[in-house]
Amino acid sequence: MKAIDLFAGWGGFTLGATQAGAEVLYAANHWPIAVDVHSRNHPATQHECQDLRQADWTRVPQYDLLLASPACQGHSSASQPKRRQYHDAMRSTAWAVVDCADVTEPAAIVVENVPAFTRWRLYPVWLEALSRLGYKMREHRVLATHHGVPQRRDRLFLVGLRNGCHVALPLHLGAEPAFAACIDPDGTWRDIVDAGADARARMVSASARFRGQPCLVNHVTGHRGIPLTEAIRTITTKAQWTLVHGARYRWLTTRELARGMGFPDSFTWDDSITRTDALRGIGNAVCPPVARDIVSAVKEAA
Ligand SMILES: C[S@@+](CC[C@H](N)C(=O)[O-])C[C@H]1O[C@@H](n2cnc3c(N)ncnc32)[C@H](O)[C@@H]1O
Repeated sequence: MKAIDLFAGWGGFTLGATQAGAEVLYAANHWPIAVDVHSRNHPATQHECQDLRQADWTRVPQYDLLLASPACQGHSSASQPKRRQYHDAMRSTAWAVVDCADVTEPAAIVVENVPAFTRWRLYPVWLEALSRLGYKMREHRVLATHHGVPQRRDRLFLVGLRNGCHVALPLHLGAEPAFAACIDPDGTWRDIVDAGADARARMVSASARFRGQPCLVNHVTGHRGIPLTEAIRTITTKAQWTLVHGARYRWLTTRELARGMGFPDSFTWDDSITRTDALRGIGNAVCPPVARDIVSAVKEAA
């Protein structure tokens, strides 16, 4: 099966599709750093760095499966209120999917977004537009832990096939994958007593709660702490998580967070990329194992 990936970001969707045996011919994004990272990991793919609201779809090669993750900030409650208007304007990126499907007529479409995407007031019209093109889109709410990822990440996947078939997603139920497997043995540790007052209070309380055992503490949501035997909660584009062990703590590294998204260590990025940019790429990605399972199901049904 030949695929293209729109809003390809760092390439979680592409990587999972490749793991499912699809060949990703084309990937596009307007953020040059993301295009560089994607190209480094998928050198055989044709890359375009462009605003997809102005794409020329005649440049896209023949393919069967359209993968797309339009910008989610306009739908996500995590958007910063200060940038609300800018993020609201990004909702229009979803129309690029309709536009591309209209011109290129693939056999199947998979769109990923935050669950709040369905609350967009234009969502019914957007679905209707795809339906007019022959795709009956079906909503799948997917929890990443059910696909072997050590993260409780809840995302919406809309899947539509021109042949009218529906896909059944395989679930890996059983013990929740533990975030412990993502942790490196070494790291730059600091003393909790030296942290700011709020952060210190959070970490002292979590450390006491888990009796000095290593645990994760979130400094944005105020979560009370997670033992490493559980999956981490949603990894976002911001630095939020510290690992606390006894009287010491350290921030999770971008590599540990990438593992928490299900990226293998063979997935790499240039050392010169800042932590802020790496967090943006990682926190926005589709978990590759989730993409792998969805694309495998689509291949079977198409
Ligand atoms: C949710 S992320 C996609 C993640 C990607 N599917 C992955 O698995 O890594 C959305 C991406 O869309 C890109 N984007 C936002 N607006 C865009 C536009 N107008 N044209 C092209 N890319 C855009 C962002 O830079 C971001 O990388």
